[in-house]
Amino acid sequence: MKIKYSDLLKYIEKIFIEYELSKLHAKISAKYLIDADFSGVPTHGIARVSMYCMRIKKKLINPKPKIKIKKISPSIFHIDADNSIGMVAADIATDLLIKHTKKNGIILVGVKNSGHYGMSGLFAEKAAKKGLAIWCYTNAPPFIPPHGTTKPLFGTNPICFACPTNNIDEPFVLDMSTSSTNRGKLQYALKIGKKLEPGMAFDKNGNPTIDPIKALNGGMIAPIATYKGSGLAWMIDIISGVMTGANHSGKVKDPYNDLSGPQNVGHMFIAFKADIFLGNNYKKRIKENIVTVKKLPKKRNLLKVCYPGESKSKIKLKNKKNGVVVDPKILEDLNKTAQAVGLTIKI
Ligand SMILES: NC(=O)c1ccc[n+]([C@@H]2O[C@H](COP(=O)([O-])OP(=O)(O)OC[C@H]3O[C@@H](n4cnc5c(N)ncnc54)[C@H](O)[C@@H]3O)[C@@H](O)[C@H]2O)c1
Repeated sequence: MKIKYSDLLKYIEKIFIEYELSKLHAKISAKYLIDADFSGVPTHGIARVSMYCMRIKKKLINPKPKIKIKKISPSIFHIDADNSIGMVAADIATDLLIKHTKKNGIILVGVKNSGHYGMSGLFAEKAAKKGLAIWCYTNAPPFIPPHGTTKPLFGTNPICFACPTNNIDEPFVLDMSTSSTNRGKLQYALKIGKKLEPGMAFDKNGNPTIDPIKALNGGMIAPIATYKGSGLAWMIDIISGVMTGANHSGKVKDPYNDLSGPQNVGHMFIAFKADIFLGNNYKKRIKENIVTVKKLPKKRNLLKVCYPGESKSKIKLKNKKNGVVVDPKILEDLNKTAQAVGLTIKI
């Protein structure tokens, strides 16, 4: 059965409100999670609602944060998110970028005391649709062993860059973990009772495993391209963690299994007006750039060459029209989360 965007939004918002998020924060959080599902990335969507609610209940996410924005200069801001749910802090940062790039051209926003914010690409997409080129960085709980070591320490720390294309609704959004796969795929497999694909993950002794439980309990995944991926994950830990005042070097807490305190995730956002040097000529040149790539001879059986983010935009548009299918186990988990706070409605 397909579920409509508006029905899911209403339901998740209601759950978050029952868990004492403000109406605004419930709406923002629900929207980003549902957008992940509708973009074809269910690993970073509503499958995580129960985790966020569990952390709110245990006072590890602050449902009513007093988020402080410190203006360091007209183009540099430092946010203390007061352990808010990650999507709220990241959305505030994105809005700052959009507002201040108009006047100041280039903006830097660092965030500390935040939490897991889901898909980087959704914040980047929002900014790119307003004409910005943007980099988003976040660190994450330990899961990648630094190159040459056997202990997971870096997170799957995604790197994300976006910019407008000549189609404002379909920006270029490169949004990728610095690991060979993302950890959400393991959590998702566990939740829906599936095994992992071979080669995806390792157990705590470094042996390959297809069991998500073994991988998630002290196991690890490889960085992309060995030492290069390890270097990128490290760079992101420095930018997002060391420089913002957030946790770093393996201290970001696992949102599912580490209940010893708030996660204190860090994010860093850098943005500027994409057409700052060229004005209207930017659109012409980005179009020329993309068309050149798309016209190259294609590999056998490939129907179309896409730029990063293009297919997600199309999938989201289609799903918003038709609705999405949600795995029954995820629906069951959502309904249990709702019932735990006395909500009688179900989806
Ligand atoms: N918040 C966190 O702590 C955290 C940590 C890790 C990952 N994530 C999120 O997980 C999500 C998934 O990450 P991932 O590494 O699995 O991404 P992925 O491997 O699915 O995609 C990586 C990038 O490649 C592009 N791409 C994929 N297939 C393509 C194709 N055929 N042609 C052209 N481009 C293509 C995608 O658009 C995307 O930009 C991301 O949104 C990321 O932000 C979040």
